[in-house]
Amino acid sequence: MKKILFIIGSLRKESFNRKLAEEAERLLQGRAIVEYLDYSDVPLMNQDIEFPAPDAVRKVRDKVAEVDALWIFSPEYNYSYPGHLKNLIDWLSRPLVAGDQQTPLAINGKKVALSGAGGTAATAKCREKLMELLTLPFIRADIMVKPQTGIQLNLEAWTEGRVIMTNEQREQLKQQVDSFLEYIG
Ligand SMILES: Cc1cc2nc3c(=O)[nH]c(=O)nc-3n(C[C@H](O)[C@H](O)[C@H](O)COP(=O)(O)O)c2cc1C
Repeated sequence: MKKILFIIGSLRKESFNRKLAEEAERLLQGRAIVEYLDYSDVPLMNQDIEFPAPDAVRKVRDKVAEVDALWIFSPEYNYSYPGHLKNLIDWLSRPLVAGDQQTPLAINGKKVALSGAGGTAATAKCREKLMELLTLPFIRADIMVKPQTGIQLNLEAWTEGRVIMTNEQREQLKQQVDSFLEYIG
C-alpha cells in the first residue's frame, strides 16, 4: 500500500481542516497508509541556523522523502496560505547541506493533493497560491490539479465548532480520494 503524508495547515487543536483530513483518512482506510506530519517544532527560517539543518528540519525532510505522496489540508489566511505552512515549505525548498545542488530535494516530483475548509471561497485562493508555490523551480512538486476539495464551512462550524458536511461535499472528497489513489498509482 502507498503511504500518504497528511499535512494540516492549521496548528489549532480543534482545526476544521484536521477534521476534513480525518474524514479523508476514513475514506482511505485499507487502501493507503496515512500518516500526519508533525511540524510543530520546525523553527522559523533563519539562514543563521540553516546549516547544519536543525533536527526538526531533518525529521520532516526524512518523512517527506519516505512517503509516496503528500496531501495538504489547509485553511485560508487572508486569501493565502498560513505563514507556518509557508515556513515548512521554505525549509523543504532548501538542501540539508550548504551548497549541495546535486542531491534532489525530498519534495521534488512528490505527488500532492490539495484540500481546504474555510469561508465563502472554500479556500480557493489559498489552493491557487499553493499551486503557484509548489511548482516553483526549486520545489517542482507534482500537483494533482483536479479534483481538489474546497469546503465552505456550515454555520454550526463557526458558532458551535461542529463541522457538518453536505452530501455534495462528501462526494467531492470521495472523488478526490479515488482520483488521488489513481494518480499515485
Ligand atoms: C489570520 C486569519 C485570516 C483568515 N483569513 C481567511 C480568508 O482569507 N478566507 C477564509 O475563508 N477564512 C479566513 N479565516 C478564517 C478561517 O477560515 C477559520 O479561522 C478556519 O477555522 C481556520 O481553519 P482551521 O479550523 O483548520 O484552523 C482567517 C483566519 C485567520 C486566523
